[in-house]
Amino acid sequence: MSDYRLSPFFTVLQAAEKASQQGGSAAIGAFNVNFFTQAQGVLEGLRRADAPAIIQASKGANKFQGGPDKIFYMLTRAMEDSGHTLPVALHLDHGNVEKGEECADSGYSGIMIDASEEEFHLNVAVTRGMVAYAHPKGVGVEGEYGQLAGVEEDVSSEETVYAKPEKVVEFFRRTGADALAIAYGTSHGPNKGTNISDLKTEIVRDSYRNMEAAGLVDDHFLVGHGSSTVPQELVEEINSLGGNIQGARGVPLEKIKEGIEFGLRKINIDTDLRLGITATTRKFFRDNPSAAEVDALKGAREVLDSQLDAIDPRDYFGAVKPFDILREPPAESGIQAFIDLMELIKERIAVHVEFLVNEFGSAGLAGSVENLSLEDMSRRYGGDGNC
Ligand code: G3H
Ligand code: 13P
Ligand code: ZN
Repeated sequence: MSDYRLSPFFTVLQAAEKASQQGGSAAIGAFNVNFFTQAQGVLEGLRRADAPAIIQASKGANKFQGGPDKIFYMLTRAMEDSGHTLPVALHLDHGNVEKGEECADSGYSGIMIDASEEEFHLNVAVTRGMVAYAHPKGVGVEGEYGQLAGVEEDVSSEETVYAKPEKVVEFFRRTGADALAIAYGTSHGPNKGTNISDLKTEIVRDSYRNMEAAGLVDDHFLVGHGSSTVPQELVEEINSLGGNIQGARGVPLEKIKEGIEFGLRKINIDTDLRLGITATTRKFFRDNPSAAEVDALKGAREVLDSQLDAIDPRDYFGAVKPFDILREPPAESGIQAFIDLMELIKERIAVHVEFLVNEFGSAGLAGSVENLSLEDMSRRYGGDGNC
């Protein structure tokens, strides 16, 4: 395990709450990553904006890289390589108990335990169990209450089950969780199909008000999942380059910002990055037709030519694992094409991340994150799983 230091989940989120209380509404960007270049691009965008962040990996991302220790290594290596010294927390996204424990033992700073499909009392029990495991290690916990429409790994719901603001304080009190994803009408993926009236940001506002009345807001944080904006120009770019993505629609940025003003402190973004990577890769193949002959890129070209709606880079970079190639470039001629593509992807991600964290109000907040280690955080939690 690299000893490159990650920041606690808690202190990163607390910086956004403190800034918000001082009048500048802010939320931390939480960016999903699957592969090395993606992590490098996010870090570069954060540096340009002087922003702290949460970098997160789903169960699928952990599997893709071969386990939580590989994701930890991949991220800390990307930080070391670029001399990244701004606060970054590594978080498991939509985890279960088994993966949560594995990640808490692998250097992660936060765990999301998604038991949102369970009845409230069971959801509380599972989340509380995760807190009891994670907090003594200084690892923060995010629960989920209510259900986002759509499929997220093994949790799916046809319709949004909106969170009830009057249950939010109870959830925090009974679980001891640091953060809570509340369903207010967003959904995962590029086809959010959301009508603007389905986005009930008043759920965020009323939840935060109830937390304020209960004295919870200084150390408990609300999270917005499914927050990709799905820029239409990106979708059009992909379609003009041979893709076929229909009906893609994201959350209007204004609604996300309203949610932040009302109390969201963590904003989850995955799909926007996937779209940017896909557009860049398709454009690269158009501009460099001979790149399709490079061994490391052949598979990607075939998948993009046959699956016109593909946007998940794991589908087309599945076999090549960019990190392995970049660490030990094969002697094969043409590898420069692969490296060039990765540089373009990194830049595309950096530009979007910089833009988003500026919009979320967390640009410039890197210096206000309390400088604690996970060991310090464990003591802060009291070492017994309580807040
Ligand atoms: O909800 C989070 C991300 O979109 C995770 O996606 O499970 O396909 O990695 P994934
Ligand atoms: P998007 O699909 O909108 O990017 O949502 C990401 C997310 O919520 C990850 O947990
Ligand atoms: Zn999510």
